[in-house]
Amino acid sequence: MNRTRPVSGYSAAQLIDRLTQARKRLRQFIDVLPADGWLGPRAGHLNPPLWEYGHIVWFQERWCLRERPDGTCGSSLRSGTDALYDSSSVPHDIRWDLPLLQPAMVDDYAEAVAVAVADRLHSGFDNDIAYFAELSLYHELMHIEAWWMAFQDLGYAPPERLEVADAPSAQHLAFPDGEAELGSGPDAGFIFDNEKWQHAAPVPAFDIDARPVSEAAFAEFVDAGGYRHKAMWSEAGWGWRTASEASHPVYWRRDAGGWQVRRFDRWTPLRADAPMLHVNRYEAEAWAAWQGRRLPTTAQWLRATARQEFSWGEAWEWMRDPFVPYPGFVPDPYRDYSQPWFNTHGELRGGGPVTDRSLKYPGFRNFYLPDRRDPFAGFRTVSAD
Ligand SMILES: [Fe+2]
Repeated sequence: MNRTRPVSGYSAAQLIDRLTQARKRLRQFIDVLPADGWLGPRAGHLNPPLWEYGHIVWFQERWCLRERPDGTCGSSLRSGTDALYDSSSVPHDIRWDLPLLQPAMVDDYAEAVAVAVADRLHSGFDNDIAYFAELSLYHELMHIEAWWMAFQDLGYAPPERLEVADAPSAQHLAFPDGEAELGSGPDAGFIFDNEKWQHAAPVPAFDIDARPVSEAAFAEFVDAGGYRHKAMWSEAGWGWRTASEASHPVYWRRDAGGWQVRRFDRWTPLRADAPMLHVNRYEAEAWAAWQGRRLPTTAQWLRATARQEFSWGEAWEWMRDPFVPYPGFVPDPYRDYSQPWFNTHGELRGGGPVTDRSLKYPGFRNFYLPDRRDPFAGFRTVSAD
């Protein structure tokens, strides 16, 4: 047993149940895919759903059934799956061109893997299988969030409608000099490698918005010419703005009555209290600069979660910090979970309207490239220091 690996707090029966529920959720998306949706358009921020379905099953098999105690890897139930579905070695751009298993074949592969994983959990339950079952579960839940994002991006009707949270006008919460705890300790239960390890960071006095910025507040920036004024933008942000020719948030359009936002396949007027979603980090930074404020550091954001009035979980929130390893970081067995993305990606916290509950905890570190607009990501601001 690997003593450095976190210990799952779940029983075999609980893990089987959670894996089953996640697969049902994925199934709901599969059931409403449009007829031509299995491959869908090619884009850097999308995966073909047919590839992603096979990849989710492959990942579960890879870690729950094929990983050996000495770290080597056994063979797959289906030959050839590594060449199709290993995200670490199959380049993104060729995923549309591979001889992918057809949906019914993936269904069979998924069923065989699920049965074998349940058997392993029942008959040989130990910390290793518990860890890898939990890792596979969260991996699947993250891919389900990616399906939500793809459905939004492509204008598909989702399996159910989202409730958009109310975000009444934000007041500021003030904090004196203090410190924040970043990362997680060895007793935290399951953690991801990028949470290793817990350490304290000093946080000078600051104030922070009690809620994420609303759609209506963002519209004021757009109407004030925010996308035309270079002074509001960072150098990288202005580079993105000019190259993309963005003049307003993605999924927005203006009609005679004002701005409308597309939520999946439907256009609706902006709602004054809805949290702003689908902005990239450059847009978030520009709005903050327009207000004479900044994006929060992760340490500020974490410190603020101690206050009851601090409302989070309505949107992924862009942090000021880049996504970097904490001191003493060592990758876990799935080595490519965090390591390839350090320093190029921006960090987000909080979880959004389509994030599974189990991934909504303050310590969960999400990360996206700063130009991504398809995530359910918004932001809040802090006083400039
Ligand atoms: Fe994956």
